[in-house]
Amino acid sequence: MSAAPTSHPELIAWVENAVQLCQPAAVHWCDGSQQEYDALCDLMVQSGTFTKLDEKLRPGCFLARSHPSDVARVEDRTYICSRNKDDAGPTNNWADPVAMKQKLQGLFSGCMQGRTLYVIPFAMGPLNSPLCKIGIEITDSPYVVVNMRIMTRMGRAVLDKLGADGAFIPCMHSVGAPLAPGQADVPWPCEPDVSRKHIVHFPEEFSIWSYGSGYGGNALLGKKCLALRIASSVARKEGWLAEHMLILGLTSPQGKKYYIAAAFPSACGKTNLAMMQPALPGWKLTCLGDDIAWIRLADDGRLYAMNPETGFFGVAPGTSNKSNPNAMASAARNSIFTNVVLRPEGDVWWEDMGVSPPEHGIDWQGKEWTPACDRVGAHPNSRFTAPAAQCPVIDPDWENPAGVPLSAILFGGRRASTIPLVNEAFNWEHGVFMGSAAGSETTAAAIGLATGVRRDPFAMLPFCGYHMGDYLAHWVALAQRADRAKLPRMFFVNWFRKSADNRWMWPGFGENIRVLKWICERIEGTGQSVETPIGHLPAPGALDVAGLNVSSTDLAELLAVDIDGWKKEAADVAENYQKFGNRLPAALEQELRELGMRLSAAT
Ligand code: GTP
Ligand code: SPV
Ligand code: MN
Repeated sequence: MSAAPTSHPELIAWVENAVQLCQPAAVHWCDGSQQEYDALCDLMVQSGTFTKLDEKLRPGCFLARSHPSDVARVEDRTYICSRNKDDAGPTNNWADPVAMKQKLQGLFSGCMQGRTLYVIPFAMGPLNSPLCKIGIEITDSPYVVVNMRIMTRMGRAVLDKLGADGAFIPCMHSVGAPLAPGQADVPWPCEPDVSRKHIVHFPEEFSIWSYGSGYGGNALLGKKCLALRIASSVARKEGWLAEHMLILGLTSPQGKKYYIAAAFPSACGKTNLAMMQPALPGWKLTCLGDDIAWIRLADDGRLYAMNPETGFFGVAPGTSNKSNPNAMASAARNSIFTNVVLRPEGDVWWEDMGVSPPEHGIDWQGKEWTPACDRVGAHPNSRFTAPAAQCPVIDPDWENPAGVPLSAILFGGRRASTIPLVNEAFNWEHGVFMGSAAGSETTAAAIGLATGVRRDPFAMLPFCGYHMGDYLAHWVALAQRADRAKLPRMFFVNWFRKSADNRWMWPGFGENIRVLKWICERIEGTGQSVETPIGHLPAPGALDVAGLNVSSTDLAELLAVDIDGWKKEAADVAENYQKFGNRLPAALEQELRELGMRLSAAT
């Protein structure tokens, strides 16, 4: 075992324990250096995990193809192990912590044979932020190490900050594919038997165990496991919020800057909105984060948001110079691509990339692929891992340890009908109600979800580390500690309306600035609105549609309140609320009742 570059007795003991349990062939403490990163990438090129992309076309970039069983998060294999089942709530998979630990001991026993155990010290949040949390991930996947170096602050500085007695969140990870002596490795080792994959959280002792998957949120444990599931449990205790939200800055033509956070479910447009190129002249958008926001109430009575990550793990398909030029620029170099098409010249391609596909390529499964194939080339959940610092519109304050003060919070999801383009909440409680009622058509970001709309409160359904009813109560209660006049305004947006002939009714992407502009005008008190049973909608003419190619009938439908549709919506929300039982905050029950009354009065 290589000498531990720390004097932290608890950390050393924990790593020694892991070594005994997992029986790796070697141990490597990561220092986070460029040399270490380069050496691991070389190693993976040797082993066949990585293909080096052409140095002129994609400098410093690599392509990986996962095992076909390991392409996204596995929600039904994800567990919250609180002592009481009730504390995990009705929306999480619960398992008894004692029984689960026993099971994990069995799974992890000898699981790293023939492999190297890497120790990854990482920080979520700037090291000098009041909210910064330190994790130590143990993994047998070099792919995880290099992705963690892009996605988190990783390496020696973290051990320095930890000192000899600092607190850390232990994160155990194995791909679950031990190698017998002489056994040849495969490019993407994992446990192909889905029933043996386990993504496990102990929210009372703040620890994580992940077995069997090497993909995304299952394996990069700083992201969903620590920064959302564990952090939400910590945040509840400490009085802050850990949210599945992007953070953006928007400067108006008058020079006023607004910070906005937005919670959309997975694959519902966060990365795109977070770094969007505004289609309206004079507006300047900057990006602070594309997936996670840690939010705290500061002494000045305002909510401040901070992005705990340092990279983007973005959905590739649909990303083009037209839809998201800033993501394309971010991933132009020093990036990792997973499950996209390899072009013969050593570049990458995916569906709706806005460039012609190669005549011949290698698809995400490693098979010969041509545009005439009857299958997609890139997996729908294929991803790029890109350093946030490479984003051309990264905000100068993106690493500000204090975060930035929020003026608005947006909720959204993919909804083909009923939900209008934009709708402003009447007040905080109504806004929390809107967030609690969020729903979306399911996407490819998780394996095994039934198609159709599912309720996804605050886009946190797969990421809340405790009882969702308590989570909603935590949001409601925040207003009692805050100065209401200084709280962010809340809005619900929907970029995903479909026409009867299955067209997108709203052009989306850079044109979404038109909605953000109205939101800023509402904050200023100048935006005209109509009061409807569901909230404040833009008054006729209030949304800037100058030069926009949307028919007036489509526009009217995007901004209409479909009373019958909303009655069904309210009934579905009511049904979903039932599972929260007496942990549903009374304020939200009242909001639902009042919505029902307003809808009845409207007919
Ligand atoms: P996660 O990383 O899974 O949390 O996803 P995300 O919320 O960041 O979603 P992302 O921005 O990556 O978008 C997912 C897909 O939706 C991509 O294929 C985008 O091209 C598409 N998309 C994003 N914004 C819009 C929009 O305004 N309109 C339409 N029609 N599609 C959009
Ligand atoms: C999501 O699914 O919300 C993601 C991708 O951001 S993953 O990191 O795999 O969770
Ligand atoms: Mn996400």
